[in-house]
Amino acid sequence: MLSAFFEKKMAVIVSWIAELVWEIFQISGLTIQTFLVFCVVFLLAYVLLKRHKNLPPYPAGRVPVLGHLLALGREPPLKLTAWRRQYGDVFTVRMGMEDVVVLNGYTAVKDALVDRSELFASRPPNYLLDAIVGCGKEIVSARWGPEFKQRRKFATAALKNLGMKVGTGSIEESIREEANCLRNRIAEYEGQAFNISSDLGVSVGNITCSMAFGKRYDYGDETFCGLLEAVMNVIAELGAGQIISVFPLLRFVPGINRAFMEVLKQNSKIHEVLWDEIARHRENFDNENPRDFIDFCLLELEQQEKVSGLTEENVMYMAQDLFFAGTETSTNTLLWSLLFMTLNPDIQQKVHEVLDTVVGKSLPALSHRSQLPYVNACLMETMRIRHIAPLIIPHATTDTVRVQEYDIPEGTLPGIPGDQPRESQLPGVIIHAKKIADTLEYSESEFQKAAECKKQLPESKYWEESHKNLLRVCGLID
Ligand code: HEM
Repeated sequence: MLSAFFEKKMAVIVSWIAELVWEIFQISGLTIQTFLVFCVVFLLAYVLLKRHKNLPPYPAGRVPVLGHLLALGREPPLKLTAWRRQYGDVFTVRMGMEDVVVLNGYTAVKDALVDRSELFASRPPNYLLDAIVGCGKEIVSARWGPEFKQRRKFATAALKNLGMKVGTGSIEESIREEANCLRNRIAEYEGQAFNISSDLGVSVGNITCSMAFGKRYDYGDETFCGLLEAVMNVIAELGAGQIISVFPLLRFVPGINRAFMEVLKQNSKIHEVLWDEIARHRENFDNENPRDFIDFCLLELEQQEKVSGLTEENVMYMAQDLFFAGTETSTNTLLWSLLFMTLNPDIQQKVHEVLDTVVGKSLPALSHRSQLPYVNACLMETMRIRHIAPLIIPHATTDTVRVQEYDIPEGTLPGIPGDQPRESQLPGVIIHAKKIADTLEYSESEFQKAAECKKQLPESKYWEESHKNLLRVCGLID
């Protein structure tokens, strides 16, 4: 009886798959003959290429076509951590048809992202990401090469000019002003419960906006809230839609392509705002006096000195990068830290006390930071356990690279997963603040202890325990 039921179900599933495949053939214009030729060529290439590879070991659970996608389960970072325990710091995961070499641990990650960073500095083609950033017309997802290097050098110089530096002319003052606006905004709620995410998003977004557009927006501004919401939505759906990057043909399959369609819709809203801003800047552009990032770009468009072949499209995509990279990251990090503070009132109390003592009623400044090791440790711990971009911006090797006893071919994706010892967990932070990697030591046994706590305790308790470990390492408690 039961087996008849399953047979019936299987028949339905098989006929559904056959219909689906047929539909894909029709939409993509493929014939069965072309498909079979493609399969044979693919298998031959696979067998021939495989022989020459000296890649790190593959964990168990790899199946044809899907690779490890099923084995990775619903929580890929956790599965990657489990595989690390079993296979060591370097292993290969097959994402659909693509090999991703996963690097774990301080030594391997520092080697890839700091010591030999140029060899790991490219980005692989990624259908979904490429669809929103014009196939690498900007910085974050651009392939390694002269164009990317020129654009990045130019953008870094422009941002430094606009205050992204420490010392005279720093953006610190605008950040303090923005913090003051947020403080006043919170005071308006007069102690009533409210959801801080939108106001916090506007404050963080305004800092990016002051550099990119040379202006700030009010909390209720519809255009700005719409822009920030669209940025958040694109980033949220990027994760959900990654299956399209692995199998781009699935973008034609209704239902499965939902996240992809949503990304495109939200992305076009962002483009609209950015194009409007570029047009507004053109109207009162003074090449003697560039005011913000867009003006610096317009000047370069005129002069064509530092970035050969820079187009207005590049400018729009680079400005988009600033919003993607600068708003969601900082907003979500701050939201996580607020949540952890709420869940750990004793730690919140201590943070409050030290802030009252060191900062008092004035606004916090960068110069206070050295006197706030406890607050610093809390923020770092939040970033360690709540890595906001665990797998989303892949790297690709620029040449064949030897890692341990393995040879990683050019174009392979090195992946750096989330749940790692503190120093190696945050690739972005290692790049933004290399010192983190150099100044703090965190022993493997401490990490094991924290990882054990994580397994046994609910999230807030885990944070408390691992937080204590961090404070111990920093010499702040016994
Ligand atoms: C909590 C805050 C932030 C976090 C956690 C974070 C994290 C990251 C990560 C993980 C990457 C990828 C690094 C890699 O591929 O190796 C990255 C790249 C980048 N971030 Fe951040 N980020 C933050 C804030 C910002 C801000 C405020 C900006 C600028 C306004 C920014 C601009 C960029 C840019 C331009 C890149 C691309 C760099 C390149 O490809 O060379 N980020 N960030």
